[in-house]
Amino acid sequence: MRELVFATNNQHKTVEVRQLLEGQYKILNLGDIGCITDIPETGHTFAENAALKTSYVHLNYQMDCFADDSGLEVEALNNQPGIYSARYAGTGGDMANLQLVLKNMEGQANRKACFRTVVSLVQNNENYLFEGVINGTLREESAGVKGFGYDPIFQPDGYAITFAEMSMQEKNEISHRAQAMNKLIAFLKSLQV
Ligand code: IMP
Repeated sequence: MRELVFATNNQHKTVEVRQLLEGQYKILNLGDIGCITDIPETGHTFAENAALKTSYVHLNYQMDCFADDSGLEVEALNNQPGIYSARYAGTGGDMANLQLVLKNMEGQANRKACFRTVVSLVQNNENYLFEGVINGTLREESAGVKGFGYDPIFQPDGYAITFAEMSMQEKNEISHRAQAMNKLIAFLKSLQV
């Protein structure tokens, strides 16, 4: 099976993406290729940050690879936390980030938000970008224990439950990351025709 590096250390994402690409690609993550460097994410957009990660792996390991950069954009917070989603509350982690969003949204009537993912692919020395977006609303309190990050407060449009109340399979049918990854997969397949 063809190998592709997914430039991430995040086990949740590795598991999700392996499920999306099952039977088609063998996905190696940064740990699998022995890359222990914390690749700097100094870009100003999801696309820049994703491309920084693929460039690093391609330069140092000469392997085809892809990387994603994702985050939560909240309309009433001027699309924050955005690229700062993983460190919105500093070093406190997922729970602290979620609590800070809830706090900053207290009393706010406009609860529109979206998750956005941009995937960067380096394939045969060419760079490509793919994007996925899912719109929804923010709950006032957490619900559900599955998933990670802001999942317990994000309710996708058309659903009465949060991402954290969905099975991984249900989330993978609609999520921002799944949409971007599905575009990546369609592209990779089109190259093989
Ligand atoms: P990353 O760039 O995909 O690592 O995402 C950065 C941050 O955005 C994560 O640490 C989470 O806080 C948030 N995030 C991204 N995707 C999701 C998701 O599917 N559910 C919940 N939070 C997410």
